[in-house]
Amino acid sequence: MRSAIISSSRSQFVGHCIDDPAFCCRSRFPPPRIEPAPAAPKLGVAADVDPLGKRVFEGACAACHDWTGSGTLTPYAALTGAGAFNDPSAVNVVQVVLKGAQRPMLGATVVMPSFGEAFSDAEIAAVANYVTARLGSAPSRVTAQQVAASR
Ligand code: HEC
Repeated sequence: MRSAIISSSRSQFVGHCIDDPAFCCRSRFPPPRIEPAPAAPKLGVAADVDPLGKRVFEGACAACHDWTGSGTLTPYAALTGAGAFNDPSAVNVVQVVLKGAQRPMLGATVVMPSFGEAFSDAEIAAVANYVTARLGSAPSRVTAQQVAASR
């Protein structure tokens, strides 16, 4: 079983770039989108992105992350600018949704629940493609088969 790459994309990508500039993810991925997504759920995502992803996001993600991605629960839930959403394979997004995330922080633990049990492979693929469309530069094209292989 693979474990989620927590504290994930931001620190990991910066590490790569410092250790090996030739491997810098900024050269492989488009630059992170640093402005928040529109607050209106109807805006911000192209019409050809699977609407199943929007339904999953609305029911399971928006309460903590907000439609803008700026996070309502805690600043740690802010997603704006995270490199994970610019990875066309969305591998970290899928792992975090499947496995959740936990980070000890100032005597408390910041938690994102796991959704691997709650959602089907197709639902997780759809929400990954939706959040990369909403919060990244371009939508990923994760398939249900790829999610199944990541479990
Ligand atoms: C209970 C609140 C909560 C819910 C619900 C939630 N998240 Fe999170 N999420 C968080 C928190 C808090 C973090 C930061 C965790 C950390 O820093 O280790 C996070 C982190 C993430 C990350 C990693 C961002 C990065 O920096 O790379 C992704 C991707 C993500 N969430 C997507 C989702 C998606 C998609 C859903 C819905 C299926 C969802 N989250 C539902 C609280 C939540």
